[in-house]
Amino acid sequence: MNIVYLNGNFLELKDAKISVMDRGFLFGDGVYEVIPVYQQKLIALQHHLKRLKICLRKIRIHDPLKKNNFTKIYKKLFKENHIQDCLLYLQITRGSGDKRSYLFPKKIKPTVFICCIPFTWPTIPHLEKGFTAYTTEDIRWAYTSIKSLNLLPSVLLSQEAHEKGMTEAILIRHREVIEGSISNIFLVKNNCIITPYEQSCMLSGITRILIVHLAKSLSFPIEERKVMIDELYTADEIWLTGSSKTIVPIVKLDGKRIGTGKAGPIWKQFVTQLFETMGIL
Ligand SMILES: Cc1ncc(COP(=O)(O)O)c(C=O)c1O
Repeated sequence: MNIVYLNGNFLELKDAKISVMDRGFLFGDGVYEVIPVYQQKLIALQHHLKRLKICLRKIRIHDPLKKNNFTKIYKKLFKENHIQDCLLYLQITRGSGDKRSYLFPKKIKPTVFICCIPFTWPTIPHLEKGFTAYTTEDIRWAYTSIKSLNLLPSVLLSQEAHEKGMTEAILIRHREVIEGSISNIFLVKNNCIITPYEQSCMLSGITRILIVHLAKSLSFPIEERKVMIDELYTADEIWLTGSSKTIVPIVKLDGKRIGTGKAGPIWKQFVTQLFETMGIL
């Protein structure tokens, strides 16, 4: 049985229904969050809630989630679904109007959907095998710092990567490296940790924030700056980061070997520390 939360009710997944007039369905008019859960502990919860609030504010939806209410909801979902580890998925849309109109309806109640996506945490030996990626033009809109429901470009890019037998596409705008199609990117060069700076066309990943903190606490030099595509090929290490990925070492990019062609020693240090910080080791 898969119990989900929809607008105040706990329902079996097959019974959770929304109106076809829901603006999430019609326009992708809403935002989402994905919070990783380890043994019923929500990892970096405050960071995720803060990002959700910011995204709601940017698209002018009043936050319908009262903190206590949210705590009760996820605890009940874990209990009902006998969940230890999962990805907690939250989706908030502007709600449904009585006709299809671009303008915000005057009186509208946001739709709130929360569910547990089954998830197995990656292990360090699995990650250590190393993964491949390719670069491609960033086909998304200019405000990808908003975690919006408009994910068609990411769907197409993920499918393309899968069909190429690769982990992910790395997105480039005018030779500038932005991020992975569903991750942020880090480079290591001469022991310095480098990551593209935050801008409106990049999602400020929570894992990225944790890694920047980690670099500071481990006394590694860290540069958050403009990164150009040529720097990728001469990097000692490349990592892709995300809540469900943790830190993925990329050992081959566009068919070219990165560094030694194996997961690097600095990746090993960071992933071990990250797992320890999250209480996973
Ligand atoms: C475009 C994009 N960038 C970065 C990330 C990583 O974000 P986080 O670390 O918060 O999972 C994601 C995660 O889905 C993403 O879709």
